Amino acid sequence: MNHSAGGSAPGHRVDVEIRWAANHLSAAGVESPRVDAEWLLADALGVDRGRLLLVDAVPDDVRARFRRAVAQRAERIPLQHITGTAAFGPAELAVGPGVFTPRPETEFLAQWAVAALSGGSVTHVVDLCSGSGALAIAVALLVPSVRVTAVERSPQAVEWLSRNVDEAGADVAGRVSVVRADVTDAELMRELIVPATVDVVVANPPYVPEGSTISPEVTHDPHDAVFGGADGMAVIVPMLPVIAEMLRPGGLVGIEHDETTSVSVLTAMASTGQFVDVRAHDDLTGRPRFATARRADGRACDTRGKMAG
Ligand SMILES: C[S@@+](CC[C@H](N)C(=O)[O-])C[C@H]1O[C@@H](n2cnc3c(N)ncnc32)[C@H](O)[C@@H]1O
Repeated sequence: MNHSAGGSAPGHRVDVEIRWAANHLSAAGVESPRVDAEWLLADALGVDRGRLLLVDAVPDDVRARFRRAVAQRAERIPLQHITGTAAFGPAELAVGPGVFTPRPETEFLAQWAVAALSGGSVTHVVDLCSGSGALAIAVALLVPSVRVTAVERSPQAVEWLSRNVDEAGADVAGRVSVVRADVTDAELMRELIVPATVDVVVANPPYVPEGSTISPEVTHDPHDAVFGGADGMAVIVPMLPVIAEMLRPGGLVGIEHDETTSVSVLTAMASTGQFVDVRAHDDLTGRPRFATARRADGRACDTRGKMAG
């Protein structure tokens, strides 16, 4: 059905529907009610959000679908679970129950990885705790020379991840391999990834300290995807020696973390004695959100990383 400009289709006014939904979502405590209302109406109409203003009118059947979606969102079901997709950089990912919904802040880590890879020839990237494959697929789309290994432990998440890799097209599917494994299992990881061969590791592990207050939307993410033990470090700490082993000398790692655990992550990285140039990276609001380091060249066990603000 064509709902685009032209003609005078009978139905309901787009602006009125959006205003109604935004008010409803605002009353339910949704953080970005107007934007979510627009996404939901665009999804119900089957048009891009940017083309909503070109739509003449909302037919009855679409309006009924839209209102059901608004009711779900008012129950604080994540927008991406209702539409079934999450945008992440250049990637469009299928998401739903059983997999972590990628967050916009992780795009900073993807951008860092892309910059780190620029100018390289064929390189091997490993995405640890890959979830829906957001980082793995975005990096593969943005850097055509890379080969990516995406490692994820949850069987349900691996299903979403494999589907997203397949749906990203033959080129990406040919360069991204999916591995189901526990990233803290050093022996298994050594068998899966040849030591000292990886150029860049990215990881967005579970890192929220257990007991932290979370929004209703976050309860729809798997618990094991969000929480990283009492201090948020339960996966990060045992993952560090695994990363040190897989990276080639001079290879780089970037790890997203909770805004409260920057010092813990930097200290843990530096205290392995296997990383140098340990640095904190802030988000746009000035909060530290990921840490990076370079693999020491193997001789430098006494070369402790220097922390930068
Ligand atoms: C915060 S989510 C990040 C997902 C994805 N990288 C992203 O940025 O959207 C963390 C992911 O790590 C996975 N995970 C948790 N513990 C793990 C472990 N020990 N080994 C491998 N994956 C793990 C979870 O299942 C979840 O998919």
